[in-house]
Amino acid sequence: MAREASCLKFMLKITKNPLIFPISIAPMLGWTTRHFRYFLRLISKKTPLYTEMITSSALLYHSDKNSLLVFDEGEQPLVFQVGGSDPQQLAQVASSIAKQGYSAINLNVGCPSHRVQSGAFGAILFKKPEIVAQCVRAMRSTVSLPISVKTRIAVDEYECYDYLAEFVRQVAAAGCVTFIIHARKAWLSGLSPKENREIPPLNYPWVYQLKQDFPALRIVLNGGVNTLQEANEHLKYVDGVMIGRAAWYNPYLLRALDQTEALSLCDQINDRLMIAQAYRQYIDSTSPRRSG
Ligand SMILES: Cc1cc2nc3c(=O)[nH]c(=O)nc-3n(C[C@H](O)[C@H](O)[C@H](O)COP(=O)(O)O)c2cc1C
Repeated sequence: MAREASCLKFMLKITKNPLIFPISIAPMLGWTTRHFRYFLRLISKKTPLYTEMITSSALLYHSDKNSLLVFDEGEQPLVFQVGGSDPQQLAQVASSIAKQGYSAINLNVGCPSHRVQSGAFGAILFKKPEIVAQCVRAMRSTVSLPISVKTRIAVDEYECYDYLAEFVRQVAAAGCVTFIIHARKAWLSGLSPKENREIPPLNYPWVYQLKQDFPALRIVLNGGVNTLQEANEHLKYVDGVMIGRAAWYNPYLLRALDQTEALSLCDQINDRLMIAQAYRQYIDSTSPRRSG
């Protein structure tokens, strides 16, 4: 904990806009639900959070579509992650997302699941930078919120640094300034989404190279970062680090981001108890009351 707190001092120096905080928590379907996000917010007030991916079709046609946008104001800064590839649909839903009060919108170009592929969005879009650029342009023409893109470094046979750089160049030309780069390629057949998060090797040098080649863009590295020390190492080369599974398995690791001083073991225990009690109150207040 003492070492994690000393990381923080380094990170805070470069924080002004809440969305530019150097650490963020990844969108994770079924995991970063609003209840988990509320829990994370009790631990860290500052770390930007992402929703699970929600598709533009669901936002337009789901029977209970308004419930998909609901969040607690205390979760801010909160980025809405959308999945889709139809620029008009995305522009339409961007407007609803903005009205709801989210801080920013992120377009998913990384999900390799078969269901997502059959909808022609997610990782398959890596092969079509011109469509991603159209989607970004369409959303930017409708809302003033920042629009970012989260992508893999490669997909199937599209595995070459020059291709990745060209993808970024085309999408940046449409007005995307922040790129979250999952430092693994995805195979669209043969591997499950879970295997696609574990089997393809991590390739951090390509992500660092993007920052070198596009110094004006905000490049955020994602994939395999388990501690704040590791994040701090990456921050020597990129603007931000997005943490996924490690925040699910050990949410308290975020606590050091809000503390300027290391806590004693005893204070840490009390601190954890306070968080647990606050979450207990949240559960009580959101659970349907039993009668009788
Ligand atoms: C259960 C689960 C669900 C995920 N759902 C999404 C998602 O909805 N959108 C997305 O862009 N990435 C999703 N991901 C990928 C993560 O955002 C992240 O890119 C990946 O886990 C690598 O980061 P990590 O090694 O820090 O976990 C998911 C990952 C997990 C474990």
